[in-house]
Amino acid sequence: MTLTPRSRRTSPVRLDEEFDRAAGRYDLLTRLNPGYHAALRRATAALVGRLGSGPLTLWDLGCGSGLSTRALVEATGPSVRIVGLDASAGMLAQARDKQWPAGVGFVHATAQELARVAGEELDGPADGAFAAYLLRNVPAEERDAVVRAIAEQVRPDGWVALQDYHVKGSRRASATWSTVCRLIVTPLAVVTRGNPAIYTYLHRSVLDNDSTAELDARLRRAGLVDLEWSTAAGWQRGILHTVLARRPLEDGTA
Ligand SMILES: C[S@@+](CC[C@H](N)C(=O)[O-])C[C@H]1O[C@@H](n2cnc3c(N)ncnc32)[C@H](O)[C@@H]1O
Repeated sequence: MTLTPRSRRTSPVRLDEEFDRAAGRYDLLTRLNPGYHAALRRATAALVGRLGSGPLTLWDLGCGSGLSTRALVEATGPSVRIVGLDASAGMLAQARDKQWPAGVGFVHATAQELARVAGEELDGPADGAFAAYLLRNVPAEERDAVVRAIAEQVRPDGWVALQDYHVKGSRRASATWSTVCRLIVTPLAVVTRGNPAIYTYLHRSVLDNDSTAELDARLRRAGLVDLEWSTAAGWQRGILHTVLARRPLEDGTA
């Protein structure tokens, strides 16, 4: 399996292997990123808040070392069923090493394989799906298919939440992002021995990522409705974005 996001400025990389190399230091580096965990908590609380009470079944797509999965568990309580999916065996090993409620499990697969994996893991569509920092890592020409697959794996009236960095179209956001990467992110990755290659890739992949308008259009093409965008506070304002979107009821009433 080769993961090679296209970029004019990067040579193709085996992304899953680069994430494997970064896995051991991933949690440490996110602890040094002010706002990372708070942003996950805000997005997962917003997602769960729209799904109502009752035992929920959720996807955590691109779950990595389980930080987004943890935020989902905190938002739902322990009686949740969560399937965390990730392409990197190393990141999944970090996730599996943590303590989880009985309903939380992890699967090694790409988001492009979601339809097949869903048939193996769940009896039917989930109530909701969360994907934090995933879609940017999917080649642009495959993103529509992945968004459509995510929408199809959520029940009618269920919700999808996506969180990622989007700077395209804003000169100010792009410049702030590049400055933070050069002055803080890349040096910290070197100091903590956190696989600088993945952080160089992070910088460039964010510059190349969909604009919020492009992602908005993908979500609508996949049939999702009621899109609600928000951005983070502090230095990430206008850089880190969250979007919530609902799969409409099948009878077309809403
Ligand atoms: C930046 S990490 C985010 C992890 C987690 N969601 C979090 O918020 O901490 C991105 C994760 O996406 C995974 N990933 C990248 N491309 C993927 C794909 N096509 N399918 C599944 N996982 C992918 C990587 O292996 C990595 O673990």
